[in-house]
Amino acid sequence: MRLGGILAIGTAAVLLVAGAFVIAGGSGAGAQGNKKEAPLDTNGDASARPWKRYAGWPARDESKWNTLAQVASPSAPKAPRKLAGPITGDAAKGAELVADRNRGGSCLACHVMGPAGGANLPGNVGPDLSQIGSAGREDEYLFNYIYDPRVYNPETVMPPWGGHGVFNDQEISDMVAFLKTLKSPAAFKTELDDPEKRPAPVEKRENLDPIENPGMWAVDKAQDLWKQAGAAGKSCQSCHSDAKAEFKTWAASMPRWEPRLNKVLGVEEFVTRHARATTGANWLMETDDNRAMSVYLHFLANGTPIQIDTTSAESKAAIERGKELSNRKLGELNFACTDCHGKSANHWIRGQWLGEPKGQYDHFPTWRTSLLAIWDIRQRFQWCQVNIRADELPPDAKEYGDLELYLAAQNDGQKLSVPGIRH
Ligand code: HEC
Ligand code: HEC
Ligand code: HEC
Repeated sequence: MRLGGILAIGTAAVLLVAGAFVIAGGSGAGAQGNKKEAPLDTNGDASARPWKRYAGWPARDESKWNTLAQVASPSAPKAPRKLAGPITGDAAKGAELVADRNRGGSCLACHVMGPAGGANLPGNVGPDLSQIGSAGREDEYLFNYIYDPRVYNPETVMPPWGGHGVFNDQEISDMVAFLKTLKSPAAFKTELDDPEKRPAPVEKRENLDPIENPGMWAVDKAQDLWKQAGAAGKSCQSCHSDAKAEFKTWAASMPRWEPRLNKVLGVEEFVTRHARATTGANWLMETDDNRAMSVYLHFLANGTPIQIDTTSAESKAAIERGKELSNRKLGELNFACTDCHGKSANHWIRGQWLGEPKGQYDHFPTWRTSLLAIWDIRQRFQWCQVNIRADELPPDAKEYGDLELYLAAQNDGQKLSVPGIRH
């Protein structure tokens, strides 16, 4: 995974980490080899149980579909459905349905569709269908492509709209009738409406400037928390008097395989379990205290290239599992992470630009300008499931650990820059 010049950077980072361990000697740690293990409370969960979805998120129950923890969705049909005769649908209704955002995001999320495109900020994950009506497609083909495109293309990223019951047969027929009317190129009012011409977004704000990044509240808050005694009468400060020196690279080595928990441990879960074991504070994941401390520990390591352990047998196995999970089709819309962030990366899904995995990890936890909130990586994972109509897992789920390690491995060498700023 690492070669040449990058290897040299990697080695330097390891030496730096070793240096930090020596500094940590004051709190009882020895040389790297016999370094004292950080105490962890291995009992119980690190996030609320039963896990309750965040306020304001869609409340739909998607338990009958695949999640990262279960395989439950029906398999793809083996053959196209035969139609009794030519399609008789209502094209006007079809035009409404293709733009209906309550039906899993609408067809315009991925396709330009002539007049229906208009002001809808269509995406370009799929082909421009503005002239599909003169492309000589059979009704049966169009019907089945919408019903479940996997009968023609097992690798497709397009959802099985009929197979998963998002649209019924009549609605699909209406959409086919509409598609058959599409015979001339889309006329865009502005270049922004055309996904082929819309410029990729660039984040111009300086995320480490406290005035430009409201997420900096977390750094301030964590510095107070650092000195605050927990139920056990100790604070972080009691054992770590010089956090800036001691943890100036630590977060860049996370997540890591943790044998005591038998799963991959990320910074946020570490904070919960280490605090419980030392100060007695119970900072569950996805609470403000936990987020603040995670931001701070990452902040201290800003500028350090991400360098996680990818060599131990356990890490390798976890990364392999993470890779498989990111290829699993999830939820009612049947998307895998890689459908959007691999196959369709660097395209528009409606007005949202799909990023690729490299560059998606180094800025977490990150400030979300659209939500006025900090999200850690696990909350981002959760949203990318709920948003495609899949049930999320609790943030400390072992599956997220595997995914996080896989994502971090793809971000190897990227420098931490936390808190980030994202729309
Ligand atoms: C997530 C993106 C996505 C969404 C949403 C989507 N499609 Fe597609 N669609 C694709 C892609 C990609 C293709 C290209 C073929 C393939 O990969 O299967 C495609 C192909 C098609 C085709 C076949 C075109 C041809 O020339 O053979 C039709 C018809 C179609 N889509 C209709 C629809 C309709 C109707 C909807 C909404 C109900 C829809 N699509 C929603 C991604 C999408
Ligand atoms: C009772 C002493 C004690 C307290 C209190 C304590 N720690 Fe630690 N901490 C340790 C020991 C021991 C280690 C392992 C050796 C080392 O790195 O110093 C450690 C390690 C760490 C590490 C590095 C973890 C690793 O895997 O190498 C971090 C980060 C950390 N502590 C953060 C905190 C934070 C945040 C708090 C406050 C919630 C805290 N500590 C409170 C004793 C303590
Ligand atoms: C239907 C498409 C879609 C699917 C499927 C999807 N995502 Fe996303 N994801 C997005 C969009 C849109 C964004 C916001 C724009 C961006 O940053 O790429 C996003 C953002 C992210 C980010 C933050 C990127 C950043 O730089 O801040 C991460 C990490 C991420 N997704 C991981 C995942 C994982 C893991 C999965 C699978 C569990 C997944 N996504 C599935 C569409 C998707």
